[in-house]
Amino acid sequence: MKNGKNGFSRIPQHVAIIMDGNGRWAKARGLERIEGHAEGARAVRHAVETASRVGIRYLTLYAFSVANWARPRAEVESLMRLLVEFAQKERAELRQNGIRVNVIGALDDLPTPTRHAVEDLIRYTAEGDRMTLTLALSYGGRQDIIEAARSLAVRARAGLVLPEEIDEDLFKRHMTTHALPQVDLLIRTGGETRVSDFLLFESAYAELLFLPIMWPEFRPETLLSAIELYGKKERRFGMISEQVRGLIPVEAFDPMDRIQG
Ligand code: IPE
Ligand code: IPE
Ligand code: MG
Repeated sequence: MKNGKNGFSRIPQHVAIIMDGNGRWAKARGLERIEGHAEGARAVRHAVETASRVGIRYLTLYAFSVANWARPRAEVESLMRLLVEFAQKERAELRQNGIRVNVIGALDDLPTPTRHAVEDLIRYTAEGDRMTLTLALSYGGRQDIIEAARSLAVRARAGLVLPEEIDEDLFKRHMTTHALPQVDLLIRTGGETRVSDFLLFESAYAELLFLPIMWPEFRPETLLSAIELYGKKERRFGMISEQVRGLIPVEAFDPMDRIQG
């Protein structure tokens, strides 16, 4: 069904991508892993351009995980240099296209030149209001949850927060993802069917799409067909189909009125 915005029945508001397979892509061509990462940076352009063109408001890319620090030092250093290059090369076009860059994860863990380049990119694109491009850098989903719990515990000890005030909203405000809505569509390239510690809290009801292609092979059409597939899903959020379609009412859960027996 192609009848809505840009010909799609439904556009996901927040798409997150685990960009996996750069190393294998390179190896299969007799190249160094880092050349796969460089080619991967070009695929990022396709993803960003296409996402903003079709009206996706939030695109979040897993660029470097906490666990990736354990890779060979030379690869980590090359990745950090590539990030600087990406930030410098892309900033003008990102700003021109109304794309605002945001970061999740531990930006402070990055080497100073990389951190500066990323901070500069964030400042330079701050006025963008078409799409928010979030880069997950030194990011770990469990780490982000634990940091939020710790910061709430500190506030509770200081008497600034009462334990009974801690709900989903307040918890979320203490995560580095606080400015992002829940993930609607999570895509992973590279053929693995795991989430590798990405957006664990935020993907609670995301549609998951695992693609066999390697990240450097990602094309605009890849994203377009993912969105089309997304449009065909019925997202029930725990309810039944008739409720989602508005045919019968949604019940409010009231613990005082628990169904007995
Ligand atoms: C993903 O590609 C990019 C990063 C983790 C930075 P990989 O480097 O994991 O590529 P494969 O999975 O080894 O092919
Ligand atoms: C996930 O890919 C991290 C990024 C894409 C940045 P990995 O290649 O690090 O994940 P695993 O090790 O296969 O789970
Ligand atoms: Mg990998």
